[in-house]
Amino acid sequence: MYVCICNAITDRDIRRAAADGADNLYALQSRLGVAAGCGSCADHAREILREGHAKQPARPPTLYVPVPA
Ligand code: FES
Repeated sequence: MYVCICNAITDRDIRRAAADGADNLYALQSRLGVAAGCGSCADHAREILREGHAKQPARPPTLYVPVPA
């Protein structure tokens, strides 16, 4: 389903971007261009982004290995 008519962006595009790490509307704008035109899709895009993050499995903790200076 098209979410952003101005830029032909679908809910699938937004979910894919969420899975790839987009975590806010600004990240979606820079990746996809969503809400970069008239802006009327911003609320719906945010909602889909939230849903996308809610459905993702928890990521394992990142291993931090300090590098000697
Ligand atoms: S519908 Fe998305 S910017 Fe206009």
